[in-house]
Amino acid sequence: MAKQEVLDQETYIEEIRCENEQHFLLTGQRRTYYSTTFGCQANERDTETISGILGKLGYVPVENRKEADVIIFNTCLIRENAELKVYGHIGELVHLKRKNPDLIIGICGCMMQKEENRNIIKEKYNHVDIIFGTHNIYNLPKLISDSKKTSKTMVEVWDDNKQIIEGLPSERTHDYKGLINITYGCNNFCTYCVVPYTRGREKSREPLDIIEEITELSKGGCKEITLLGQNVNSYGKTLDEEITFAQLLRKANEVEGIERIRFMTSHPKDLSDELIYAIRDCDKVCNHVHLPIQSGSNDVLKAMNRKYTREDYLKVVNKLRNEIPNIAISTDIIVGFPGETEQDSEDTLDLIKEVKFDSAFTFIYSIREGTPAAKMENQIDEKIKHERFERLLDTLNPIVLESNIALEGTIQRVLIEEVNKSGEGMLTGRNEASKPVHFKGTEDLIGTLVDVRIDQANNWSLQGHIIDEK
Ligand code: 5AD
Ligand code: SF4
Repeated sequence: MAKQEVLDQETYIEEIRCENEQHFLLTGQRRTYYSTTFGCQANERDTETISGILGKLGYVPVENRKEADVIIFNTCLIRENAELKVYGHIGELVHLKRKNPDLIIGICGCMMQKEENRNIIKEKYNHVDIIFGTHNIYNLPKLISDSKKTSKTMVEVWDDNKQIIEGLPSERTHDYKGLINITYGCNNFCTYCVVPYTRGREKSREPLDIIEEITELSKGGCKEITLLGQNVNSYGKTLDEEITFAQLLRKANEVEGIERIRFMTSHPKDLSDELIYAIRDCDKVCNHVHLPIQSGSNDVLKAMNRKYTREDYLKVVNKLRNEIPNIAISTDIIVGFPGETEQDSEDTLDLIKEVKFDSAFTFIYSIREGTPAAKMENQIDEKIKHERFERLLDTLNPIVLESNIALEGTIQRVLIEEVNKSGEGMLTGRNEASKPVHFKGTEDLIGTLVDVRIDQANNWSLQGHIIDEK
């Protein structure tokens, strides 16, 4: 069914492409698009697909949204502040639409999976032309075509998708690094999280499709890939072929030309010994695991439906460190989950001190309507949430700094990503643990891997100098 619907798009692609070509022949100017991503790497990857489709339709990308004929916002629902930010940006587009009534504005992504949000857009932001969901990206040509014929807002949002749609075009943001989906959706239903509702049930991509994509990227000069999934550790469970994530990593490690393999996110409940051995054995797989703990209290973990205890987590961390002594471990932590007591919050701080994370993303619990935690009666007062958050940072920051200081004097392999905005002639890249590293160098080195000796550790980054240019 899904395949046929993708084929059906060809008519609309042809129609819009011809129209855009005619516009070019008449004016000498290509029609343009501007796309932007709010949220996580899964959204970033989706935006690359959206950009690929727009490219196929004959639109060219522009950096400035004021110059665009099509504007797409790919939105995020994970926390309330992500949502509010998006509404602000959508509001600003009304001026552009007034100036150019032919402008096509599309809003997609996780926020649009929720009916209330779609209704808000339809009622309050009627300058929006197209609303589409996380499973409906392939249908963008039809939506654009239809929207050109009506002043009504076109809406297409499915709750879930029966099968994965392969072979959609894609305009990659970088050529030296690439995101690769290995699973879509999530079956874990952590009680605070909207993802299972916005991205549907977990589905794994066929290993052949994944390895083919990695090979393609490698041929295009890609050095680093990140395998993406809400829980990469459960990769393979929905496939007929028997394959685990560890086995997939070993296959990916064999693709020539790729120098680094990252993956995220790992759910602690599913991190197997087999995976630890694969990380240890595969030379290209970074010695870094992002392993969200969320809370150090067993009561809170239970209420979050995380399906592991603090002790289980510590056991996994120990195993990782025993097998791979220099492994970096990063995490996600939420404070202020409903019912969290002072003691629970202290338990989290103790766990942080015990594990000594290399880095962490920290969040204040945000009520997400439709999730079980939103209905819990023992919500925490905002002021207390903020106090706990401050204490969390006071505990975490010196530990992260300590792990950075331990790198002073060491040589770190760094993939150079960009010119550093703050310093003259400075570049920024990331080491294996994904920490930002700043050093002197010339722009032409972007996209290459170099060895950097670390001279100084800062709170959030490392400073050094290149000792080997390749
Ligand atoms: N409130 C705060 N943080 C959240 N996260 C997910 N849902 C929420 C929420 N409702 C965090 C978790 C997750 C990360 C991607 O976002 O820590 O691991
Ligand atoms: Fe959300 Fe939990 Fe799934 Fe992660 S594992 S996406 S936190 S439900």
